[in-house]
Amino acid sequence: MKYTLAFDVYGTLINTSSVFNSLEKMIGDQATVFMETWRYKQLEYSFRRGLMEAYTDFSECTNDSLEFCCQLYKTDLSKKQKSILMNEYSVLPTFPDVAKGLKDLKQAGHKLFAFSNGSEKSIIKLLTNAKIIDLFDGIVSVEKIETFKPNPLVYSHFNTETNSSKSDSWLISSNPFDVIGALSYGMRSAWVQRSPDAVFDPWGIEPTTIIHKLTDLASQLKKTKS
Ligand code: 2OP
Repeated sequence: MKYTLAFDVYGTLINTSSVFNSLEKMIGDQATVFMETWRYKQLEYSFRRGLMEAYTDFSECTNDSLEFCCQLYKTDLSKKQKSILMNEYSVLPTFPDVAKGLKDLKQAGHKLFAFSNGSEKSIIKLLTNAKIIDLFDGIVSVEKIETFKPNPLVYSHFNTETNSSKSDSWLISSNPFDVIGALSYGMRSAWVQRSPDAVFDPWGIEPTTIIHKLTDLASQLKKTKS
């Protein structure tokens, strides 16, 4: 069976930890807790804005959460240092398994789409810089419907934009909130457990399959019943 595959971007295709290296140079050993809080707060802002129906570009959630962390950890990052960090967020590398994993899936006849909270413009910039943009059949951003994952509207937006259905599409993500959102909407979903310590939310909703790198996915899709 040939599927339409929706690939989450941050944390799934794109490794955000390189921002950590710059941050560590700026603030030393506070960088680990700062980075974790930054990611959680960035997502929290997107959840809150989705519920409040107060949509803004995802990069604003990234910027506001950076500001929050500076105040919380009392780090006096200069305007220049903050813009360096924000710029790094826009040109991040992929995980090492991504290009080969995507090529294998394309070879197997599946349709590949990047699917993100990020604006289309920012995702094009990220994937172009990471040299994987040509592996995708397209990019679907939530910006057109002005809400964020895991609102079910974003997954149906994906199906509409890609002319796919719940039954012939999958969401591929390292973010459990995204996997559970897609499953709850009715899509199948593969959780990319990139770290053995990563915990999947104990909601009693399980991923259709669990993989540890994208190169595992093609064989898993072969095994699933259509
Ligand atoms: C995304 O790329 C935020 O990782 C999430 O949509």
